[in-house]
Amino acid sequence: MTRKQIIAGNWKLNKTASETRRFILTLKNRIAGMDALPELLICPPSVALETAVDAARKSGIAIGAQNVYWESSGAFTGEISTEMLESLGVSHALIGHSERRALFGESDADVNRKLLKVLSGTLIPVVCVGEALADREAGRTEEIVVRQVKNAFLGVAHEHARRIVLAYEPVWAIGTGLTATPDQANAVQGLIRRSVGAIFGGAVADELRILYGGSAGPNNAADLMAESDVDGVLVGGASLDADSFAEIIRAAA
Ligand code: 13P
Repeated sequence: MTRKQIIAGNWKLNKTASETRRFILTLKNRIAGMDALPELLICPPSVALETAVDAARKSGIAIGAQNVYWESSGAFTGEISTEMLESLGVSHALIGHSERRALFGESDADVNRKLLKVLSGTLIPVVCVGEALADREAGRTEEIVVRQVKNAFLGVAHEHARRIVLAYEPVWAIGTGLTATPDQANAVQGLIRRSVGAIFGGAVADELRILYGGSAGPNNAADLMAESDVDGVLVGGASLDADSFAEIIRAAA
């Protein structure tokens, strides 16, 4: 099974709308002429989404939100619905990023609600899972990651499962410069694939794209993506510079 790789950038709390436009126009130049491009995804802050969609038109670069809410409308100050994102031309949404879980108290149940809501519309969810350093040191990586996957997928219909993208982001590797080794990433990602297979069957698991995130960059992306269960990277810091992001894309192209 050959799975099309995805190179995704999660900008977190970085870049204004005008910086977003400039970045995307530069990136379009950098990737023009590259052969066999992977799927490309950029997740800017929500206030730059509309600009990003406009700047990325006809480039093949997909635009994703960094978060969503599980209600469509109502008294939920500060939240953004999937319908609002869809109406802007946004195509993807990150769900359950470890910063949402750790800093904003998102639980597995919240992640599940968000996933079910996204799947009821047209967005492509990128569900993030990963263990903290203490979990890894205690030998609990498998248990934690499998539990996060199972809890996220509760109640997901078989026909929707194919739309899901997963991202394995070990918390200890995010923003630390400490990357999981290709072996470490592949071991957990293989486990994730098997646990999805146990729920939805081998065909769905075989098609599932699982990205690696955590200090991924131009220096290690090719080695990570050479692993059998690493189908792309979800890049934080190194996605903020168009040249370094283009280099990562070149590693996959
Ligand atoms: P860094 O690439 O900065 O470690 O961030 C990874 C990440 O959290 C992507 O979602």
